[in-house]
Amino acid sequence: MKNDIIEIEQIISEAYTKIENSQNITLLNKISSEYLGKKSKLSKIIRALVKYPIDQRKEIALTANQAKNHIKNVIISKRQEILLNNVNNKYNTKQIDCSTTSLYFPFSRGSFHPIISTMEDIITIFKLLGFSIFEGNDIENDWYNFEALNIPQYHPARDIQDTFYIDEMKTKLLRTHTSAAQIHVMEEQSPPIQIIVPGRVYRNETQNTSHSSTFHQIEGLVVNKYVTFVDLKTIIKYFVHKFFERDLKIRFRPSYFQFTEPSAEVDIQCYFCDNTKCCSVCSNSGWIEILGCGMVHPNVFKSVNYDTYKYKGYAFGIGIERIAMIKYQIDDIRLFYANDLAFLQQF
Ligand code: DAH
Repeated sequence: MKNDIIEIEQIISEAYTKIENSQNITLLNKISSEYLGKKSKLSKIIRALVKYPIDQRKEIALTANQAKNHIKNVIISKRQEILLNNVNNKYNTKQIDCSTTSLYFPFSRGSFHPIISTMEDIITIFKLLGFSIFEGNDIENDWYNFEALNIPQYHPARDIQDTFYIDEMKTKLLRTHTSAAQIHVMEEQSPPIQIIVPGRVYRNETQNTSHSSTFHQIEGLVVNKYVTFVDLKTIIKYFVHKFFERDLKIRFRPSYFQFTEPSAEVDIQCYFCDNTKCCSVCSNSGWIEILGCGMVHPNVFKSVNYDTYKYKGYAFGIGIERIAMIKYQIDDIRLFYANDLAFLQQF
């Protein structure tokens, strides 16, 4: 155990020297994957923790994760320093030619925002499984967001979805979940239905490292004559393995949503601590929740005049920020919306 701590310290000082000496972004990116990537020495130390009894793992895991964070921060400031130098050099050494095109402009061309690329990746997987894409509305009314989804007026379930109303009569609101789109689709077409709805959702809640007042979800809905919970489990398992490209453990935990019965939440083995149960991201549980799902509640079918004896369905709602945070190992949701170039340039 002591050896691991000593090794971590050595890794930090080795990384610091390399970062300090690097003079360009390409080299810095290499150093970043060498010290923060899946094959890095620190990740190997974390993975090897299983050899220790649980009480001893905590200290090493904490030190290793802190080391990763330190290295990440030093890389971010070095990146800013290099970019700034590049710009200054350009301006100091050459006269600006206002007739040149942006090709010569010293800034990079930018890249996709991690939320967008995460959404695209998820959409691609479901498209290949035969799902079509439906675009819902950001502004909804009570019927679509709550009532038709079996969340009646004054039901306590509405509280956890703290809503932004946009008129005084509370007739119009910013949707609190993409589930609202389920009703639009079912009102407009009859089964079979197999759709996903990517989009932005809004909740009136205090912002912190894991909560934001606006975030993104992808809703899924499948309705047909013979649809079972086994179909739901199969599709979710397939999605998780395809998306994370790793053989992660998955568990379905019984849960409660007004619009599905039975309902479940799906957890995956913690990506940060590799199920060693020593990290703040999974609250030392070894599991991270990624989505809610279940079999469509008969009352939802009744709201859209579907024959509840003839049709069955399943639905799921995936939180995009959560999945992106896990995939890119980001520990603060607010980074996605800060428009910090040093953060965005890493993707
Ligand atoms: N709408 C839920 C939320 O925002 C997520 C969800 C749970 C969607 C279960 C579903 C579902 O379609 O079946 O928290």
